[in-house]
Amino acid sequence: MVGMELSEFGKKFTDKAGILSLMDDMGRAMGGGRDVIMMGGGNPGYVPEFQEIVRKRLQDICADRKAFQRLVGIYNPPQGVQGFIENLATLLHREYGWQIGPENICLTNGSQTGFFLLFNMFAGVFSGSVKKKIRLPLTPEYIGYADIGLDRDFFVATRPKIDCQEDHLFKYRVDFDGITLGEETGAICVSRPTNPTGNVVTDEEMARLDELARAHRVPLIIDSAYGVPFPGIVYSDVQPIWNENIILCLSLSKLGLPAVRTGIIVANREIVRAVSGMNAIMSLAPGNFGAILAEKMVGSGEILSLSKTLIRPFYQDKVEKAMTVIHTEFAGISYRIHRPEGAMFLWLWFEELPITSLQLYERLKKRGVLVISGHYFFPGLEGDSWSHKDECLRVTYSQDEQQVAAGITIIAEEVRKAFSEAGG
Ligand SMILES: Cc1ncc(COP(=O)(O)O)c(C=O)c1O
Repeated sequence: MVGMELSEFGKKFTDKAGILSLMDDMGRAMGGGRDVIMMGGGNPGYVPEFQEIVRKRLQDICADRKAFQRLVGIYNPPQGVQGFIENLATLLHREYGWQIGPENICLTNGSQTGFFLLFNMFAGVFSGSVKKKIRLPLTPEYIGYADIGLDRDFFVATRPKIDCQEDHLFKYRVDFDGITLGEETGAICVSRPTNPTGNVVTDEEMARLDELARAHRVPLIIDSAYGVPFPGIVYSDVQPIWNENIILCLSLSKLGLPAVRTGIIVANREIVRAVSGMNAIMSLAPGNFGAILAEKMVGSGEILSLSKTLIRPFYQDKVEKAMTVIHTEFAGISYRIHRPEGAMFLWLWFEELPITSLQLYERLKKRGVLVISGHYFFPGLEGDSWSHKDECLRVTYSQDEQQVAAGITIIAEEVRKAFSEAGG
């Protein structure tokens, strides 16, 4: 409709959101009628054995009239499918000793929806016109958060510490000296592993964040979309943590089920009640599909063993192969890779890159390689003119290995070209 007048809400959510323009751009490039090497998206890979297990489960459900009716024919309570929730509460209590029951878990239509609800519950305008923000203790951080606030200017962040390591590696660490919490802090949130960097915040850093959050009486939101306990795409030994002040956000997506849109919130009962209420208002109830498909594997604990024996090795093998290609192809270039500790991304840093990462992205797109420019991943640091923000790329390694290798070769060529044009 031409000239349509929109509310503040309407304007905020139809404005040029970073994630929307990015998805649009990628979609257009993919639909451009030529072969494209897709190293940009966050789609999980297809793990054949896992798909077979899910297919079999679906067949069993379809063969059973009652089970099928339950899958497609009923609205569940706004908290989500009770059988799944009960199984998960039992599993988490049994495995980790967490004092939780079904009243501590609710489902959302994808964890992205969960973040929308949680962030807007804890940040924005409060009574007395106090404005609160979500504190990101570490950036780069997930681009999907950036446009989620009903209000603008929703995040506050500080630069991380950079720990340069051998073999062209580096690791971001939380700069605790730079974190100030106060009246304006609504909640702390960290993704673990982090999208885009593959960083896994250490157990020690988590313990300090937990302490900080409790001392300041704000919730600590942990986005474990790739992490522990499932799908467990973490290559080091880290522990999941939970207590009444932690909101642990899980998802079935990165196990290989992004289309079922099942997000899981594990939190104290007050928060679970609040999110369930919002589910009722926004969508009556979260979808049943993912929860019913996964209910048995949660009940038996198979979801944990599959994470360890199928999902993690699938990605670990891919990352090791991609790293080998990078070290070969990038020889002679000044490059660093964030130590790949989890998730499905490599985060490449070209220090003093003579063009911006966005320009590099454009050049790569012309060569048929789709990556994501790193500058998108600094929510809360928009006003900071830190050159590092324009020196990084996010590369996905979840897809076909040969394509990934071909893409890396082209990235190396373009980076080399950019440095040589600048006389470097
Ligand atoms: C760090 C992180 N959190 C949350 C999500 C949202 O996942 P979903 O809504 O599919 O559960 C994603 C998706 O890519 C992600 O990368």
